Amino acid sequence: MYVPTDTSGMRLENETVVVTGAASGIGRETAELCAEEGARVVVTDIDSDGGRDVADDINEDGSEAVFYDLDVTDSDQFHAVVDEVADSYGLDVLINNAGTGHPSASLEELDDSLRDFVIDVNVKGVWNGCHAALPHMKEQGHGSIVNVGSLASVLGLPKQAAYSMAKGGVLNLTRAIAAEAGPYGVRANTVCPGFTDTQLLEQYLAQRDDPERAREEMAAEYPLQRLAEPAEIATAILFLASDEASFVSGHGLIVDGGFSTC
Ligand code: NAI
Repeated sequence: MYVPTDTSGMRLENETVVVTGAASGIGRETAELCAEEGARVVVTDIDSDGGRDVADDINEDGSEAVFYDLDVTDSDQFHAVVDEVADSYGLDVLINNAGTGHPSASLEELDDSLRDFVIDVNVKGVWNGCHAALPHMKEQGHGSIVNVGSLASVLGLPKQAAYSMAKGGVLNLTRAIAAEAGPYGVRANTVCPGFTDTQLLEQYLAQRDDPERAREEMAAEYPLQRLAEPAEIATAILFLASDEASFVSGHGLIVDGGFSTC
């Protein structure tokens, strides 16, 4: 049985980490942080130019990264990437970060195709990644999966019904995986961020008449009086990915500056 005992030194030394949606925002910060912590990082995204830039930056900084085009909704493509990575290097960590939002609208205003799109990317995408990675992780007897949920995994957000449905699914899917794969030495956890300063948030705010004012009002609702920086979510992901969290599994780590507690 794999029981990590040495947590000194770099936290992901000699480990191979796959990050989805790593071309921007939280995924980009996470890929860069994992590289700084000694990981070989597999940067994946549908944004080829952005993803290649991230991998190039990591390599220029003296760490190791490769880029793969990967649409998480394409199960065959996800399997092909994961199989190739696992066969070449092994697969220690999978970070299912890719996600998308939808316009703020009541449930009855959201049409079925938009609902399906949000489900496809945000929850089936996570499923596809886990489906591809788990056989390798179980066989090697260790692995860590970190799925990126949201505050919408634990709260039902008004005018965000499809997003809330998908992100709630991510949290409970992760718990099921933790229960199922734990006997094989595989951990699975969810990070549930509050509003974080990324292009996804920009798109969300752009729907408002006065986006800057909407951002200030949003920030004022947080006890810390600000929104999260992507790096602050990346550190939580790194913790759960690494052996520092060696006895943490099935957990939903809320990173929201105290928003959901008051
Ligand atoms: P972002 O828009 O900066 O990054 C998302 C990345 O995912 C982009 O690079 C995009 O190209 C990629 N992507 C989108 N669809 C994809 C697909 N089908 N396959 C592969 N890649 C795809 O957004 P952000 O904020 O960094 O989002 C990362 C995760 O964090 C998402 O799961 C999001 O739902 C979650 N999150 C974000 C919050 C926020 O306020 N920014 C709050 C809570 C959760």
